[in-house]
Amino acid sequence: MSNMLRGQLAFVSGAGGGIGRAVCRALAKEGADLVAADANITTAKETISELSSSDHLPIQIDVSSASSVDDALKKAIGHFSRVPTIVVNAAGITRDNFLLKLPVEDFDKVIDVNLRGTFLVTKACVNSMIEANVSHGGSVVNLASIIGKTGNIGQCNYSASKAGVEAFTRSASMEFGKFGVRVNAVLPGVIETAMIETIPSEVREMFKKRIALGRIGKPEEVADLVLFLASKKSSYINGASIEITGGMR
Ligand SMILES: NC(=O)c1ccc[n+]([C@@H]2O[C@H](COP(=O)([O-])OP(=O)(O)OC[C@H]3O[C@@H](n4cnc5c(N)ncnc54)[C@H](O)[C@@H]3O)[C@@H](O)[C@H]2O)c1
Repeated sequence: MSNMLRGQLAFVSGAGGGIGRAVCRALAKEGADLVAADANITTAKETISELSSSDHLPIQIDVSSASSVDDALKKAIGHFSRVPTIVVNAAGITRDNFLLKLPVEDFDKVIDVNLRGTFLVTKACVNSMIEANVSHGGSVVNLASIIGKTGNIGQCNYSASKAGVEAFTRSASMEFGKFGVRVNAVLPGVIETAMIETIPSEVREMFKKRIALGRIGKPEEVADLVLFLASKKSSYINGASIEITGGMR
């Protein structure tokens, strides 16, 4: 373990998922304490149980619910007696379908978790940083997607939610600059997690042909970018959307 983030508390949503778990590992390795928040408390606990040192808290959360987000943050602050200064919004879902067949509730659900959830967690955490007078040096990292730029067949809900996360990130960075909080978006291409398990193998092969490096990405590779954006090493990067796709076209 090195100590780039020693003494910092990080709030990671989607911490039981592929990318969220890798992010927790990367941040903890640099000495951060973690609030590992996920709708699935079992996987959040698994994430924590495999980390060695320091104090980490698994917590159940529904990021699309304002009261759930507020409760989770309150519990976290109660446990650690301090507020998170790093926030990673990695909770996300897909409900893929052709637009003309997409049930209205599957449109709403994806927007609620991916976009509204990012707003609710960011709002609660950054307000707590400002109230505690520790906002300077704070960093928010939002998981968007390359699909938010390119669009994708069967993903009108998901692509709109992720384009929304990018626009949200830019606006938030303009409002938070005076508090010393940076906000950036990460735009992964295709990463090996549960989210892409349902992609049929022929579609995977098609994706690979579009990736210059010829392979699907690993959660650890995304986590290294998130770590960089969370740390002081990226102190002048703000309001940015950074692609991590292996060179997808
Ligand atoms: N895997 C990819 O190829 C890829 C590509 C681009 C972007 N992303 C984005 O990266 C993020 C992480 O995805 P992943 O690949 O690790 O997927 P994943 O399915 O492994 O993890 C997502 C996690 O979010 C949690 N979650 C779902 N709804 C929630 C809610 N309402 N409240 C709290 N937690 C909730 C799930 O329980 C799960 O643990 C997502 O925002 C996703 O859209 C992934």
